[in-house]
Amino acid sequence: MLPTSHVDSEIGSSNTPETRKNQAFQTLKSKKLVVTRNLRFANLLSMGVSQIEKILVTGHRGMVGSAVCRRLSDTSCELLTASRETLDLTKAADTDEYFEAHRPDAVIFASAKVGGIVANDTFPVEFLTENMLMAVNTIGSAFRHGVQRFLFLGSTCIYPRECNQPIEESSLLTGPLEPTNEAYALAKIAGLKLCQYYRQQHGVTYHSAMPTNLYGPGDNYHPEHSHVLPALIRRFHHAKQTGQPSVQLWGTGKPRREFLHVDDLADAIVHLLSMDSPPDWVNVGTGTDLTILELAKRVAATIGYTGEIKTDPSRPDGTPVKCTDVKLLHECGWHHHIDLHQGLKDTYAAFCKEVDSGKLRSA
Ligand SMILES: NC(=O)c1ccc[n+]([C@@H]2O[C@H](COP(=O)([O-])OP(=O)(O)OC[C@H]3O[C@@H](n4cnc5c(N)ncnc54)[C@H](OP(=O)(O)O)[C@@H]3O)[C@@H](O)[C@H]2O)c1
Repeated sequence: MLPTSHVDSEIGSSNTPETRKNQAFQTLKSKKLVVTRNLRFANLLSMGVSQIEKILVTGHRGMVGSAVCRRLSDTSCELLTASRETLDLTKAADTDEYFEAHRPDAVIFASAKVGGIVANDTFPVEFLTENMLMAVNTIGSAFRHGVQRFLFLGSTCIYPRECNQPIEESSLLTGPLEPTNEAYALAKIAGLKLCQYYRQQHGVTYHSAMPTNLYGPGDNYHPEHSHVLPALIRRFHHAKQTGQPSVQLWGTGKPRREFLHVDDLADAIVHLLSMDSPPDWVNVGTGTDLTILELAKRVAATIGYTGEIKTDPSRPDGTPVKCTDVKLLHECGWHHHIDLHQGLKDTYAAFCKEVDSGKLRSA
């Protein structure tokens, strides 16, 4: 289990420093000695999504942010969004000004400077700086403006490169990171820890979700920089349209990977926000993986491509297995709903629509 937060420790009876701090806080609370702001937060500690009136989704034009907005459109929350042109979250003063003017009750942080291996490896300064600034500015500004719930999104790249599989939350900071995305991962670890520290020090329910590989509407289909699943969709679609007799995969096709539909992630986020006492951070995945070759066959079948699928063992494979442990997520009461078969069908339909409307993301 994870180290529990201020709120979780109310339940336990252990005499940890955190429990003692919490007891002290409770005593102060009962004596009505806490300062006004802390009292306000204390009263709102158990606020779930059903009680949140105004919610800010950062990065709402991105793949994750747009899925979260779709999911929240089913709730009664007033949704706040701001494009990067309106609000650049790397700018502290602008971020403060935005929170002062709009006063959300809750924030879902889905903004990030993201990129493929080449971009991450070439521009580590920008990946670390921009992602750190966005996290520090947004989390800090949210706290200063009375935000009660904050959900920070990272990714499983925060875990050590060589950690045990499936990846448990407790493997955080137990070994060296994958060097090619170290800068990005460090910024995400800092964001996760900052949420944990605000929760521990100030009693606000700031917590994080770490999704596995995602796919779904709004994905990036860039020919060189996209993730494996959108890259396969693009290549098999093109091969079918142009009558190519075969498609060659990079590597042996043997590495095993896990995939989660982005609409499932959005649902998990709303679920975590509805919990009184969510874990400080939790993996969000399916807990099941398949080989890249199996995935390619499924993508080909979804698209209706009947040519040959070849592998290219001269190309590097990367990590042999990457799959999340989802025990903690299941203990939180959430399980994924969209299986890969249905998810691929939906995603390919969305891809075709995006192509037809000239809105396919490829940057
Ligand atoms: N996609 C995946 O497979 C995956 C897997 C695991 C975890 N995640 C995590 O999910 C989160 C979102 O990823 P995503 O795939 O949705 O990324 P995305 O599609 O690239 O979206 C990122 C969003 O962040 C916004 N943004 C970037 N810099 C900004 C700035 N300075 N100020 C304000 N907004 C800014 C972008 O705005 P513009 O629209 O203006 O560019 C965009 O809307 C990230 O934390 C990522 O690590 C993603």
